[in-house]
Amino acid sequence: MEHHSKHGQWSSQWAFIFATSSAAIGLGNIWKFPYITGVNGGGAFVLVYLICVAILGVPIMIAEIMIGRRARLNPANAMKQIAIQSKCRPQWGMVGGLTVLAAFLILSYYSVIAGWALDYVVQSIRGSFYLANAEVVSQLFNNLVSNPWRVTFWHTVMMLSIIVVVTLGVERGLERSMRYMLPSMFVLLLIVIFYAIHTGFFKEGFEFLFYLKFENLTSQGVLIALGHAFFTLSLATGSIMMYGAYVPRYVYIPFAAIMITLADTVTALMAGLAIFPIVFANGLEPSSGPGLIFQTLPLAFGHMSFGLFFASLFFIMVVFAGFLSAVSLLEPPVAWIIENYKLKRSKATLLVGVSTWLLGFGTIFSFNIASDFKLLGKNFFELLDHVTANFMLPIGGLLIALFAAWKMKKSFVIEEINHNQGIAYQLLYFILGYITPIAISIVLLNSIGLLAIF
Ligand code: TRP
Repeated sequence: MEHHSKHGQWSSQWAFIFATSSAAIGLGNIWKFPYITGVNGGGAFVLVYLICVAILGVPIMIAEIMIGRRARLNPANAMKQIAIQSKCRPQWGMVGGLTVLAAFLILSYYSVIAGWALDYVVQSIRGSFYLANAEVVSQLFNNLVSNPWRVTFWHTVMMLSIIVVVTLGVERGLERSMRYMLPSMFVLLLIVIFYAIHTGFFKEGFEFLFYLKFENLTSQGVLIALGHAFFTLSLATGSIMMYGAYVPRYVYIPFAAIMITLADTVTALMAGLAIFPIVFANGLEPSSGPGLIFQTLPLAFGHMSFGLFFASLFFIMVVFAGFLSAVSLLEPPVAWIIENYKLKRSKATLLVGVSTWLLGFGTIFSFNIASDFKLLGKNFFELLDHVTANFMLPIGGLLIALFAAWKMKKSFVIEEINHNQGIAYQLLYFILGYITPIAISIVLLNSIGLLAIF
């Protein structure tokens, strides 16, 4: 049996938890979670999201790490190999392919948004936010996104750096630097939360996030909460499975999965607590969309002491968090090309990198010249996000769950979970085999109108 990946292993259980958390914590937590919570009415949406994270996210994360560690190959080949060893169709490998495609598509807009944050680092250093009011701040945001050249510049800078890092294969070194980034990010979020308390509107922000108003929740909202649970935990995009390939045998996978999920969820909730009080204190709309953090945080930084310093630091963190996630998003498609088409690493990286860069223009133009170009009422960026986060990821997750519960050899699972017939093992089988497929199918069918349950 092959028990060691050719790329080595994480040095300890915590090294794995830390590295995977830093790939999971990204723009999804700081940028996306607050804005989709705002658009979908707050509390009830957050509750559905938390339920999806706990009941569907954790077990699927366990399944992915388990498959990765068992096969020690890239996602597409990992599932194929285990399928063959479990005497089922090798076509299960196509699920891995689907996840790799999702990673590629997500990366194309991820780099653009990280580029916005990079622009904000420069604006912070220049002092653009100093004492700025809501109107000025929203004007600054519009100036940025309505200018395709400026966004293209930052998107190009991001993509180039990502390509360089993945070509050189120095991700591990980067992850070591994350040891400082993650804790600093926590501290900075805490500073903004303290500022938010000081605005006097903390209660409104808190209530918006946690008071359940089910009348605000739509079937689309439930779908978005489900999709975001996968997105934020980096599930069904190949990377967790890939990270799993480097997990040492002694790591207890369920524990690691729960810790990663906790770190990710706490960060998202902190971002929410930092942002919504500022929204209400300034009479802004919680539902203003993808620009939410860019139109709220500068207000906070513009009015606090050392604001310029904290603003620069904060947006640098956002860029880094986005950058590290982007690096792990590029890795699965690159590994897939290398293994399937026998291309050199540098060529494969360039090929995938340039393709994502090109696709990124769809997102750039969605906020300016092509903002009126709509399909099904959505511009290109909205459609891309909708198809990937709300359909590809849940369907990928569903197939991974079915595979782990019904196809993968039981002896493999027992070995990976280190438990025979224990409660964790039985619960895992029950959730992956029954709860996950039923819940995901209901939400998907309901959202496209084939079921009318809620
Ligand atoms: N979880 C990341 C975030 O919340 C986004 C993401 C999805 C991701 N799949 C990924 C990041 C794979 C790295 C690798 O921002």
